Amino acid sequence: MENLCIVGLQWGDEGKGKVVDYLADGFDSVVRFNGGSNAGHTVVVDGSRHVFHLLPSAALKSKNLLIAAGVAVDPDVLSEELSLVKRYRTRTVVDFRATVVSPLDKMMDVMVEELRGPSAIGTTRRGVGPAYALRAFRLSPRIADIITDSLDMASMRNFYSKFLPKVPDMEDWQRKSRILLKKIAGNVSDVINEINEKGGAVLFEGSQGTLLDLLYGTYPFVTASGTLSNYVPESVGVPPNRVGDVMGVAKCYATRVGSGPFPTETDKEDAAKIRNEGNEYGSTTGRPRRIGWLDMVSLKYAVKINGVKRVSLTKLDVLSKLKRFKICEAYSVDGEETEDFARCLPKIDEVRPVYSDGWTIRGEFDRNRMGGSVQRLIDYIEERLRVDVKLVSWGEDRSMTYER
Ligand code: GDP
Ligand code: IMO
Ligand code: MG
Repeated sequence: MENLCIVGLQWGDEGKGKVVDYLADGFDSVVRFNGGSNAGHTVVVDGSRHVFHLLPSAALKSKNLLIAAGVAVDPDVLSEELSLVKRYRTRTVVDFRATVVSPLDKMMDVMVEELRGPSAIGTTRRGVGPAYALRAFRLSPRIADIITDSLDMASMRNFYSKFLPKVPDMEDWQRKSRILLKKIAGNVSDVINEINEKGGAVLFEGSQGTLLDLLYGTYPFVTASGTLSNYVPESVGVPPNRVGDVMGVAKCYATRVGSGPFPTETDKEDAAKIRNEGNEYGSTTGRPRRIGWLDMVSLKYAVKINGVKRVSLTKLDVLSKLKRFKICEAYSVDGEETEDFARCLPKIDEVRPVYSDGWTIRGEFDRNRMGGSVQRLIDYIEERLRVDVKLVSWGEDRSMTYER
C-alpha cells in the first residue's frame, strides 16, 4: 500500500475533511502538512458534525494523527481539539520543528488586515500569515523552543510592540503551551519513515486549495503557505517519491471565502439557492461563501501542477436542486479564447468565462449505482481532465459516498 496525498483543487472547502475521513481506513496515520487553524474540515457521521482546524480529519477513525513541520500550530486550538477527541483512541505527534502561532500573531493578523483597508485579503484572522512571515524573519518560535523553554519572550514581545498598540503578558500562554506540547512533540518525519519501512502507508491531508497557494494561486489573495502536493516533501521531511498518488477534491461548482478574483462567480438567484442547499458558510469563520460555476480552466491547471490522477467530486446533491447549471469551458481574454489558466493569471480580473449551458443532475444517488445524468458529468470530467473520478459525494454524511 502506497502513501496518498489529498489536495483541494479550488479555493478550499471542497470537502477534503469528508474525503479524508472516508479514505482513512486503509492508512496507518493521517498527516496535516500545511496551513494552520485557518482550515476547517468537516466530518459528519450519523448526523453528528465535527470540524477539525488543526488535527487531521481522522480522529473518528481512531487513526494516528500527525502534524508536520510545515504546519503553523496554535497550541490553544490544538488543546481544544485534543480535548474533543479524547474519547477516540488516537495518538497525536506534532513535529518539533513546526512553527508556533501565538496570540500575538492573531492580533497582528487583524491589524495588518485593517491596514490593508479596501485591499484586505479577508483572512481567517487565525494568525497563520504573521506566524509564517515571522518564521521567514527567523523570529517565530518552533515547538522545540517552547518545550525547551529557550524562547526569549522579552525580545519577542519587544518586536511585536513595534506594531501592536498593546502587547499582553505571555507568561501564562507560554506555560500552558509548554505543558501541552511536551506531551505530543516528536519527529514526524521519522514516524512516517518507520510506518513506510514496516509496509504501512500514510494519508497526507492538504488544507486550503490550489488557487490559494502562496506561489501558484491568485496572489496576493492567497494563504501564507504552500497548498500543493509539492509542499509535502518539504513540510513532512520525506523524499518526493514518498508522496504517493495525488487525489484532488473538487466541488461540482466553485466557492471562495474572502476577497480576490473569481472568474465564474455568480450573484444571481442560483447563487443564493446553492449557498442555501449546500450550506455554503465558512467552517472556520461562518462567513457566507461566494458562489460560482464549475471552472474547467482552473481545474485543468490544478490537476496539472499537483500531478492529480484521481479526483473526488463532491456536492452533487446541491446541483441536483437546480433546473440546470453551467460549466466554464474556456476564458475569453484580449479577444481570444484560451484554456491556459497560468497565462491568464496576471490578468485574471479581466477574463470572461465561456460557458456550456443546460447541464442537469437528477437526484439519482445510491451507494452502489450512479444515475445517467451523474454519469454524464463524471465522463465529461474524466475526459477533460484525464483523471479517474474515484469518489462521488452527494451529501455531507460519511455514508453518502459512492466509490468507483
Ligand atoms: P474542507 O475544508 O475541504 O474539508 O471542506 P469544509 O468542511 O470546509 O466544507 C465542505 C462542507 O460541505 C462541509 O459542511 C461538509 O459537511 C459539506 N459536504 C461535503 N461533501 C458534501 C456533499 O457531497 N454534499 C453536501 N450537501 N455537503 C457536503
Ligand atoms: P480549508 O482547509 C477556504 C482563505 C481565507 C482568505 C485567504 C487568506 O478549510 O479548505 P489566511 O487566514 O489563510 O491568511 O487567509 O485564504 N482561506 C481559506 N478559504 N478554506 C480554507 O481552508 C481556507 N484557509 C484560508 O478566507 O481568503
Ligand atoms: Mg474548510
